[in-house]
Amino acid sequence: MTLPTRICLVGAGRVAKVHANSLVNHVPTGELVALVDNVPQVLKEAGDRFGIEARFVSLEEALSKSDFDAVVITTPTFTHAHFAITAAKAGKHIFLEKPMALNMEECDAILQAVHENGILLQMGFMRRFDPEFVTAASRIEAGEIGKPMLIKSLTHGPGLPPPWARDLSRSNGNLAEVNSHDWDTCRWLMGSDFERVYVEVANFKGRARGVETEGFYDTSLVNIRFESGGLGSISCVCPCDYGYDARVEIIGEKGIMQIGELKGQAVVICVDRDEGLVTPIFRTWPERFAEAYIREIRHFVECIRSGKAPKVGGIDGRWAVAGVLAGTKSFQEERPVYLNEVLEVGMKP
Ligand SMILES: NC(=O)c1ccc[n+]([C@@H]2O[C@H](COP(=O)([O-])OP(=O)(O)OC[C@H]3O[C@@H](n4cnc5c(N)ncnc54)[C@H](O)[C@@H]3O)[C@@H](O)[C@H]2O)c1
Repeated sequence: MTLPTRICLVGAGRVAKVHANSLVNHVPTGELVALVDNVPQVLKEAGDRFGIEARFVSLEEALSKSDFDAVVITTPTFTHAHFAITAAKAGKHIFLEKPMALNMEECDAILQAVHENGILLQMGFMRRFDPEFVTAASRIEAGEIGKPMLIKSLTHGPGLPPPWARDLSRSNGNLAEVNSHDWDTCRWLMGSDFERVYVEVANFKGRARGVETEGFYDTSLVNIRFESGGLGSISCVCPCDYGYDARVEIIGEKGIMQIGELKGQAVVICVDRDEGLVTPIFRTWPERFAEAYIREIRHFVECIRSGKAPKVGGIDGRWAVAGVLAGTKSFQEERPVYLNEVLEVGMKP
């Protein structure tokens, strides 16, 4: 019998718990053997909860004292390049949460380290594994709605992002923290790279909730022109308070396709004729994309075991970061920005 693929989880925060649950309960060919977090209390709580004995306060310590095949990196964005490059140099396969990194230089350094060390890199774009998104993509690919002309993608999150993610210098703000998935989805479903973007941002609720970080915005609207000539929009409201909402509409030359809906369940309740009909909404992202989170980690482990390239990799992560950077430049300079302005000349992926 072949042994399970041994994984070290780097970071033990919100999304780490989702991946730990997948590895412990849903991926028999993978084993969570080590945990890293630089906050001892967080390390202890997550270690106890998921039954992981090998606990470390740094990846370097984990590498020297424990043995594993791969890392799942779930720390904040500003640490991604350091952890990914350290893991690559140690020959560990990498599952890297979105956003890939803070800037193009970091993305390219990760890509180079991955290439030089011959390891696999999968990006945490779980929508690529969501059954509804996957069905939509294959039906677009089959030509059912014709050539895509226009895409509208929205992600609205219920609560404030973690403190580090409210700071543009450490996260690139909600265009990255919330909308990384939309950037990737739009590029994937349109089958085309971004050519130009124009972004407006606003801040409605931040100050009232004590967010004083300079440049913080909670509402944004992105307009995109794709290289194919197609158009797109991405919107974000976070915090939106009403629930977790992720929906996409694609209009092709022949027809239209919608992915997702506002309600979270098929159940409809009426207990009071004045209140009317009530139907639950998805409350959180782990709930909306529960199946996708399991499938993406399962795919990562399968790729390591078979040696196949992951379905979503570093080039996809780099394009999403490029969209974020062009978008940030756009709202800061109050003008449309061509992707060429942020992608280094000659380095276009
Ligand atoms: N794919 C998704 O749907 C999804 C959802 C949420 C977050 N994310 C991404 O995952 C990453 C983490 O987000 P989160 O919401 O879980 O953040 P979080 O703040 O809840 O958790 C981050 C954890 O990393 C630890 N950490 C920070 N710096 C560290 C360091 N130098 N060494 C070791 N540990 C360190 C913190 O103590 C914390 O426990 C971000 O890149 C975020 O964008 C992805």
